[in-house]
Amino acid sequence: MDLREQIDKEKLPVHVAVIMDGNGRWARQQGKSRVAGHQHGVTAVREVTEAAAETGIRFLTLFAFSTENWQRPQEEVNALMTLLVNTLESEIETLMKNNIVLRAIGNLEVLPEEVRENLLKTMGKTSANTGMNLVLALSYSARWEIAHAAGQIAHDVKEEKLDPGKINEKLFSDYLQTRDIPDPDLLIRTSGEYRISNFLLWQIAYTELYFTPKLWPDIRKEDFFQAILDYQHRERRFGRVSE
Ligand code: IPE
Ligand code: IPE
Ligand code: MG
Repeated sequence: MDLREQIDKEKLPVHVAVIMDGNGRWARQQGKSRVAGHQHGVTAVREVTEAAAETGIRFLTLFAFSTENWQRPQEEVNALMTLLVNTLESEIETLMKNNIVLRAIGNLEVLPEEVRENLLKTMGKTSANTGMNLVLALSYSARWEIAHAAGQIAHDVKEEKLDPGKINEKLFSDYLQTRDIPDPDLLIRTSGEYRISNFLLWQIAYTELYFTPKLWPDIRKEDFFQAILDYQHRERRFGRVSE
């Protein structure tokens, strides 16, 4: 039977986050440049985005570029930024067709002007859509996000807008960029690496983790459905005992 049909619509994860990894290794296997690997990764982005929207996932967060990725060779960074601009332009139709709202988290201020403008423009075009939220993590680092939140909290305390006695987990979450996004239920990482690489550290406290050896450019809808099915067989206990 089709994997898609085996998915229990009553037990869907609300938020799925993805660490899209393995573009460079895919390229090396094919005898291509790392940049070609990133270009082929765009097909996987489209497949997973469509699969998630069609399944009824409310939030899909894709880790597209980390703060640490700025340390890659300048040529690769430039190519990734250009690819981002081109992809935002070419995929706007896919976003509209699937009723997707595009959003972004990360330190967007350090993105090249052209990328940021394009991003804001595309987000604006999709803002009236009512379907899935596609959240791009760009120049994102979870430690940066947490430190930034701490700074804002300190600022509000200093301005006497916030009583330090009121600081708790809920309030802290409200200072993160994900303030109106539920914590991920499922986190997928491709390419056989078993690490988090500074992604959503606060938010994944009770997230189910799914790892696949497949490299990102090879990922298709079926792989996404497989991850959802795996998730649906898990028992989430949140520190309690089984019912
Ligand atoms: C993921 O693929 C894409 C980004 C981090 C931007 P990589 O470029 O990390 O691919 P590998 O890990 O070198 O194979
Ligand atoms: C994580 O992948 C970042 C993104 C997918 C954007 P990396 O390839 O940068 O992570 P490490 O270096 O293997 O931990
Ligand atoms: Mg990698």
